[in-house]
Amino acid sequence: MKKQKTSFFCQNCGVESLKWVGKCPSCNEWNTFIEEKVIKEKTQSNSKNTKTKPELISNISSLGEERIDTKINELNLILGGGLVSGSLVLIGGEPGIGKSTLVLQLALSMKEHKILYVSGEESPNQIKLRADRLNIPNENCFILAETFLDNIFSHIQNLEPQIIIVDSIQTIYSSKLESSPGSVSQIRECTAEILEFAKKSNTPVLLVGHITKDGAIAGPKVLEHIVDTVLQFEGDHNNLYRILRATKNRFGSTSELGIFEMQNSGLREVSNPSEMLLSQNSEKLSGTAIASSIEGIRPFLIEIQALVSTAAYGTPQRSSTGFDLRRLNMLLAVLEKRAGFRLSSKDVFLNIAGGLKVNDPANDLAVIVAIMSSNLDIPIEKDICFAAEIGLTGEIRPVSRIDQRIAEAEKLGFKKIFISKYNEKNIASAKYKIQTIFVGKVEDVFKQLYS
Ligand code: TYD
Ligand code: MG
Repeated sequence: MKKQKTSFFCQNCGVESLKWVGKCPSCNEWNTFIEEKVIKEKTQSNSKNTKTKPELISNISSLGEERIDTKINELNLILGGGLVSGSLVLIGGEPGIGKSTLVLQLALSMKEHKILYVSGEESPNQIKLRADRLNIPNENCFILAETFLDNIFSHIQNLEPQIIIVDSIQTIYSSKLESSPGSVSQIRECTAEILEFAKKSNTPVLLVGHITKDGAIAGPKVLEHIVDTVLQFEGDHNNLYRILRATKNRFGSTSELGIFEMQNSGLREVSNPSEMLLSQNSEKLSGTAIASSIEGIRPFLIEIQALVSTAAYGTPQRSSTGFDLRRLNMLLAVLEKRAGFRLSSKDVFLNIAGGLKVNDPANDLAVIVAIMSSNLDIPIEKDICFAAEIGLTGEIRPVSRIDQRIAEAEKLGFKKIFISKYNEKNIASAKYKIQTIFVGKVEDVFKQLYS
């Protein structure tokens, strides 16, 4: 009789352990280990007649990777030019964010490809209702409500689809394991089998995956190693805007970002993000400043909002949404030490308008200007924007791709842009209508703004 082998897996990060442990040594979560049965098939790694052999890299013919147009421009951009044949793409996001809507929209828009949409979460009727809402006619899209992987593969063999969507990987189970669907070993096994199929048949497969509360793709981090591309779909539930970004991409950059708006008839691409990121408020209010920011290759202007108020309790609070809190603390220290502002007894709240998360260092200057504007309760003129990094010594440091930032600000009708004086030599300010103001130190900025 075959011996039942069991192992314990962390349901949060996928780490395997032979014994039960209370605290995961890898992700430090408590009580996440669950015993799962593992039946390892005999591997044939020892067999002598392996078909693969080492090849000289110079002899391997370089096939240009074929890109399939997904008909969703933002998605093409994030994938690095389109879907690559035989690639495995994982789309992660919180429940209700719009993953199923996105993949269905994609399936319906790619009319000239035969698509199989496998759903383990919704019935064909529910998907049909959603498709009616999206209102994209399509004669080439098949829906399969199935969760047993072996059945899915046999349908794939009969149907021979060109693109496969699996919604979601957490609902699929394989006969090779006895553990329940959604457990780490099932997810890992199913993904590995799907990957093998994708590479053998050269069919692109999109997997939908749920994420846990702290933002990791549920269960296995291991999944992220297996797949070619990981896309994160994120956004605020209170906000209609959704952001899709690549956190891993074997076929393109990971700095791209796509923006969608959830409407009644599905997701609409937002091709001019600055419009949504600048709040439509025409009144002059203190505590806001505009940064000319770049995410991926696209420049856009974002509004930074700060609120500084006297701390009601002993320890002042510092909180930020969409901006790195450690960076905020560093900028506050610079303001305190280099510009002589007393902020240590004040609460400071920072928010990036539009529910966006940013990490471009060029936003620093706008952040400190917003903080000072709120602290002094003096509004900044609406037609001024900023693009510079702040160093620990309080100097205003140059940022990359300054021309693109200035051009975007000019395009949106700004009259002045504050940039580092060290950027002066690499721009042709004569060609811009917008006034460029070069600053070297934090104090210079306040003098320029408030004199
Ligand atoms: P869904 O794609 O089901 O999310 P996920 O698969 O990530 O769990 O999205 C569900 C939400 O989107 C739901 O709250 C309703 C909303 N929605 C619209 O606003 N417009 C639409 O056209 C559709 C299909 C959904
Ligand atoms: Mg869904």
